[in-house]
Amino acid sequence: MDYKKTIAELINIDGVSTEEIFGLIAVPQDESMGDFALPCFRFAKALRKAPAVIAQDLANDIASKLPDCFESVTAVNGYLNFKISRLGFIADTLDAVLSKGSAFGTSDKGAGKTICIDYSSVNIAKPFHIGHLSTTAIGAALYRIYKALGYNVVGINHLGDWGTQFGKLIVAYKRWGSKEYIEQHSIRALLEIYVRFHDEAEKDPTLLEEGRAWFKKIEDGDEEALSIFHWFKDITMREVQKVYERLHVTFDSYAGESFYNDKMEPVLEELKAKGLLVESDGAEVVNLDEYDMPPCLLKKADGATLYATRDIAAAFYRKNTYDFYKCLYVVAYQQNLHFKQWFKVVELMGYDWAKSLEHVAFGMVSLSDGTLSTRHGKVVFLEDVMNACVQRAKEIIEEKNPNTEGADEIAEKVGVGAVIFSAVSNGRIKDITFSMDRVLNFDGETSPYIQYTHARCMSVLKKAGNNVSAPDYTCLDGTAFSLLKLLDRFPAVVEQAGEKYEPSFIARHIIDIAEHYNKFYFDNRIISGGDGAERAKLMLTEATMTVINSGMKMLGIECPDKM
Ligand code: ARG
Repeated sequence: MDYKKTIAELINIDGVSTEEIFGLIAVPQDESMGDFALPCFRFAKALRKAPAVIAQDLANDIASKLPDCFESVTAVNGYLNFKISRLGFIADTLDAVLSKGSAFGTSDKGAGKTICIDYSSVNIAKPFHIGHLSTTAIGAALYRIYKALGYNVVGINHLGDWGTQFGKLIVAYKRWGSKEYIEQHSIRALLEIYVRFHDEAEKDPTLLEEGRAWFKKIEDGDEEALSIFHWFKDITMREVQKVYERLHVTFDSYAGESFYNDKMEPVLEELKAKGLLVESDGAEVVNLDEYDMPPCLLKKADGATLYATRDIAAAFYRKNTYDFYKCLYVVAYQQNLHFKQWFKVVELMGYDWAKSLEHVAFGMVSLSDGTLSTRHGKVVFLEDVMNACVQRAKEIIEEKNPNTEGADEIAEKVGVGAVIFSAVSNGRIKDITFSMDRVLNFDGETSPYIQYTHARCMSVLKKAGNNVSAPDYTCLDGTAFSLLKLLDRFPAVVEQAGEKYEPSFIARHIIDIAEHYNKFYFDNRIISGGDGAERAKLMLTEATMTVINSGMKMLGIECPDKM
């Protein structure tokens, strides 16, 4: 039931469109003021009447033709307040959630449209560190949200698998590495020799020369160079894959930077033909003075292409391959300028679809827990953070309930869930400080709190058994009714999260739902001998559990059956 739409269509004011009225309808903070309110102040000028009079006239006019879904309409201080018919709303909402189950909140709004999402995009032979948490968690959440909205979604891991660092790494490996050690210690071993390379190169700059020469060999397709390079890549991917599995993150494509090696030249040619590419100190750039940006460097004097060159080639490839409706880049705000620059270049080339490229930026994550930040020098591996949270979750669970069956599995869901939730529960653009105690606080606005509420719903349902009485909805008032309104809004929240690229809308909404449910739980006796009131409360419990579970799934978090 779309109440706002119904209200907007009920109201006729000369010179004011239905859309405008729709936009003005608000949900009053104070529920005693009604469930929806239309402020009439805006109409005062056009109608040359006081807002209070307008509201009263409208109330009188509408009263006789009020649809059944509303109980009353009243004028209060310039507002037109609507109260919805409670029992009808309760029955409709519970029916919608319980009949659709996990499909409640999904739609086919995006049918026929493709959205590409570039997220996580880790770098080969470099640590999968805490800085990749947000792009991975936000990107994967958006992926699931758009799937739920019926879009065709293409998840792309634009691997950082090209650059002179691979030449250096080969030199380092040949001098100080061993196959066994690297196989065994994986990325950490690669990081070690890479750090050593830079230390040694300070003393002996010829190493840099050597590194460049090896990179040239990779570029030229030298067999040995390529085989070592691919080995580095395999090692990295094996380790990264383990993390993705624990985070429930998947991709449809791993076409990384090296994939575009042979796809940049045609783009550069086209830029040249369009007179956009100019020479500057031997390098080739697109001038962006007019747009208050530094030039976009696309080819260095030594002929090497750049990160931006690859991004532009990738955008063309994606447009041609997937014909996207939108292509999103979930990348930290530090890269704002980079994306602004090359989006502009595509626009200047005359492609209208430049508008559908979107940089979904997010803030930085730093750590407050000293213990985590020192383990591997300056870099904090995401896997270490996950392990620490799982370990801590296990301690908490065992403290609360010493004989919990399957504690390891539960701890994995709680610990990993807490890490994901920390990245998707705040507005994207905010910098966040990760604190293990905070994300694992069972009483805070956290994922364990939500999971706990979910488990509570399960246990209530289990305890109650099968109740087949006709539901008596009259008992669902106060907090229960507010909770129902939140459940009813879930599909709209999912849609808004997609529109604004903000999984946090869903996270905040389910926190709100969990808080309402817990208040309802403490204020009410739910189990009351199998009567109709009990049935209604159980239905509300099941609907709450369903929506919490769907919301958490979209964020990539599993809810254990018990905690
Ligand atoms: N690998 C890059 C980094 O770690 C992120 C790549 C983002 N995606 C892109 N198409 N530029 O900074």
